[in-house]
Amino acid sequence: MIYIAPSLLAADFANLQSEIKQMADAGANYLHLDVMDGAFVPNISFGAPVIAALRPHSNLIFDVHLMINEPIRYIDDFVKAGADIITVHLEACQDLDATIEKIKRREMRCGVAISPATPVEKLLPYLPKIDMALIMTVVPGFGGQALIPETLEKVRTVRRYAKNMGIALDVQVDGGIKTENVHLVAEAGANIIVAGSSIFGAKKPREVITNMRKIAKEYLEQEK
Ligand code: DX5
Ligand code: ZN
Repeated sequence: MIYIAPSLLAADFANLQSEIKQMADAGANYLHLDVMDGAFVPNISFGAPVIAALRPHSNLIFDVHLMINEPIRYIDDFVKAGADIITVHLEACQDLDATIEKIKRREMRCGVAISPATPVEKLLPYLPKIDMALIMTVVPGFGGQALIPETLEKVRTVRRYAKNMGIALDVQVDGGIKTENVHLVAEAGANIIVAGSSIFGAKKPREVITNMRKIAKEYLEQEK
């Protein structure tokens, strides 16, 4: 199944409530929430209080992407704020196993992300323990960048590995994805598509979401 996850980072921050409603009306499945700490990544975005404030206004799955150092310190804050999925970066955790365990103990869906510079082999041993692998298709920190084509091979490797091991795994991609290139990530095996500027920047987000889903479905099915 394909899920489209608009990234709130590209929304109008002065009108978040209406922006997320617009995404739900446009057929989005998830709301991707990029939390940045100004340390793991150079940018600062928003944190748990903003997510908690949005929670009563949306039934979308809240997909929280933590780009913060030692996220284990803040898992409970994001659980309380109403996250459904919590994704941490492999590079940001001293004890990734403990971090995964903490997320799972709170009965959250758990994702682990790798940045473009991180070899995919580092992620593979964790796949049986998690619900979602996030392959960053740009260097994390900013919206509106171009997809790095070399990252697609990692998507392929993760999907192949999960298939061979018989693991039901969601594979998410994030960064630089638009209608014109969504076939590439789906063909590689991604089934959760994050897109910020290409959806929020569109005149008709519904059309973009519908087209992306249709194309991704076609290509993901071809792969199977
Ligand atoms: C980048 C973030 C992405 C970003 C995607 O660090 O993790 O979620 O918002 O934005 P676009 O789709 O504009 O590249
Ligand atoms: Zn993200």
